[in-house]
Parts: sequence; structure tokens; C-alpha cells
Amino acid sequence: MKIVVTGGAGFIGSAVCRYLVRETPAFVINVDKLTYAANLRSLEAIANSPNYSFVKADICDRAAMDAVFRAQRPDIVMHLAAESHVDRSISGSDAFIHTNVLGTHCLLEAARAYWTSLPEPQAQDFRFLHVSTDEVYGSLGADGAFCEATAYDPSSPYSASKAAADHLANAWFRTYGLPVVISNCSNNYGPFHFPEKLIPLVVLNALEGKPLPVYGDGSNVRDWLYVEDHARALYLIARRGRPGEKYNVGGRNERSNLSVVESICDILDELRPQTESRRRLITFVTDRPGHDHRYAIDAGKLERELGWRAAETFDTGLAKTVRWYLDNRAWWEPLRNGVYAGERLGLLSAAGP
Ligand SMILES: NC(=O)c1ccc[n+]([C@@H]2O[C@H](COP(=O)([O-])OP(=O)(O)OC[C@H]3O[C@@H](n4cnc5c(N)ncnc54)[C@H](O)[C@@H]3O)[C@@H](O)[C@H]2O)c1
Repeated sequence: MKIVVTGGAGFIGSAVCRYLVRETPAFVINVDKLTYAANLRSLEAIANSPNYSFVKADICDRAAMDAVFRAQRPDIVMHLAAESHVDRSISGSDAFIHTNVLGTHCLLEAARAYWTSLPEPQAQDFRFLHVSTDEVYGSLGADGAFCEATAYDPSSPYSASKAAADHLANAWFRTYGLPVVISNCSNNYGPFHFPEKLIPLVVLNALEGKPLPVYGDGSNVRDWLYVEDHARALYLIARRGRPGEKYNVGGRNERSNLSVVESICDILDELRPQTESRRRLITFVTDRPGHDHRYAIDAGKLERELGWRAAETFDTGLAKTVRWYLDNRAWWEPLRNGVYAGERLGLLSAAGP
């Protein structure tokens, strides 16, 4: 079984590649443009495996995507390539529309051309898994959870671009019959996470004694999922999910941003004790424009239909994650000193635009 993973050098994509190569019989072809968010060091452990290969290519390049399908003849596409950081999408939305919307369109068309050329039964067994986010559903009030039937109501340029891509993927199933399955997952965390996102940023700032920025009053709630649980879910959905269906993925781990930051401080205080708690570094900063208040995922369909369960609780997963950053300075130090040093992104300037 051959699986093309797009965006396999990113945070979740690299976890998917590591999982597929180590735990499944799949041959993995990682297709990635290598943007600032990519890191081939996250793939070092599998880079020389006989069932792994890497192709540097842009999903917006139709000729390159056609060449990948022609050369690799995949049974499954797991499409994760995207611009993924909400704050960056506020500062500049172009790359988000380009990759997330136009790139997904390009990949769907290349997949359709390839799929149309397949004989039976390969055509029937082919799957295109479009990997998306719970952010397409917008914001929840104090109660309830997103289910697969929840109406789309995205708030940020990032979530709007992902919502547009989901609609395209769904339309390619309804109109052309391309065997598309869509997954919508909550916030991921874990090892190899680029340090612009909340959890790794706070771990590294706390280690370096820097302020720990908490947006607004810290009451925004996210439903956290350990990245390796997500990787397992994606393989199951790609193999056994029904074409034309959506599956929500989430760990039933709702936490306010403030409590996430406090937990990281407490874990670090235990592992690397100091005279004063790192909680003293918590600093409330200007909120994100359009900040969704609460996300929560009902993953009941995935649990019932495909028998998936998250293996990590937030407490076990967070402790593993913090320890990983302590043990893997060589992975993150070059990023902090070069690609992204922790500066605030996504604030609207008074001068516009
Ligand atoms: N991070 C989360 O919490 C989360 C939650 C739910 C869903 N998702 C979705 O999962 C996917 C992966 O997210 P992530 O956090 O790993 O993202 P990431 O930013 O860490 O990685 C994205 C990867 O895509 C690659 N890429 C970007 N543009 C490309 C292009 N035009 N062509 C080829 N490759 C390109 C990058 O080089 C990078 O390796 C995204 O589609 C995202 O929307 C993320």
C-alpha cells in the first residue's frame, strides 16, 4: 500500500509519517514544499527506512502533482500540507488562500485525473483524506460540542481558508465521485511542534525565563489532542472511513489557555526546580482579533464507527511533551535562534491595513 502524505515535514505530517513507517505496512511518499514550518530533522528517525521517500514539491504546482501521481501510483493520499498558524493568517492571508484553497484545488484535480485513469478495483479502493480543523465550525458558547453536522462559521483567515478547502473536497466527492473523506481535528500538541504555537512557545519561554504571553484574560478554551493519537486516527479514517463522510477527531481534553500555561509552569517547576514558581512569568497580552472563545469536539462518530480512542490524557501527554523539549534542545534551538524567536504575530496595526 502506497500513501502520499502532503505536508509530511510539518508538525502533524511528520508524526503521521513516523507512525506509518514504523507501525504499518505502508510505503510513504512525503510531498512537502519545505516552508518555514517544515523541519526535515523531525523525520531523521525514518529518513533511511526502505518504506519512506521524500519529494520536495509545491501542492500548487499541477505539473509537479501530476508527476507525483504518475511516478508513485498511490492507494491513499493524506493531505495535510497547509499554512496553519492563525496569527500569521491575520498578519498576511495571501499564502493561506494560495496553499490552503488553490493548493487543495490543484491536488484534488491531480488526484481526480489519476483516479479516473485507474482500473477497478484500484479506483474503488482509492482514498483522498483531506485533513482539516475544528476551527471551521467557529466558536462555541459555554456548553455543547462540535459534531459533524455543525454548520461552518469560520472566524480567521486561516479557518476560512480551511473551510473553503473542505467545501472543495466535499464537492469533488459529490460532483465527480472522487472517494474523499474529511477529518476535522481539535488543537494538537506534542513533540516536534514549531515553537510559534502556544504550548511549545510557553515551554521554551519558561525555560529561558521569558514572559509567558496569555492572550486576553486566558479564558479561551481549546480541546487538546496528543499528536500521535491524531496520527493513528488519520490512518484509520483513511483506511476505513466512508467516502463522502466527515469524522471529527478530539481528545475530550478541554482546557482554558491560562490553565494550560499554568500546567506547563508546574511541570517545569517539578522537573527543573527554581526558588520561585515559573507562574510568575505569566503575562496577559492584547487578545487575538476575532479570537474564538471555545472549541470542543464530539468524537463519538469516530469512536463508534472505527473504534478509535485517544490513548493520552492531557496530563500524560503534556508531561511527555515538556520532557521532550527538555531532552531535544538540538531540535528547537536553531529555530529559536533563526526562523522564529518568539515575537508577537497577528496584531492589527493602527496604521492598517
Ligand atoms: N496543528 C493543529 O493543531 C491542527 C489541528 C487540526 C488540523 N490541522 C491541520 O493539519 C494539517 C497539518 O497541520 P500542522 O500543524 O502539522 O502544520 P505545519 O504548519 O506544522 O506543517 C505544514 C506543512 O505543510 C507544508 N506546506 C505548506 N505549504 C505547502 C505547499 N504549498 N506545498 C507543499 N507543502 C506545503 C509545510 O512545509 C509544512 O511542512 C493542516 O492542514 C492543518 O490545517 C492542524
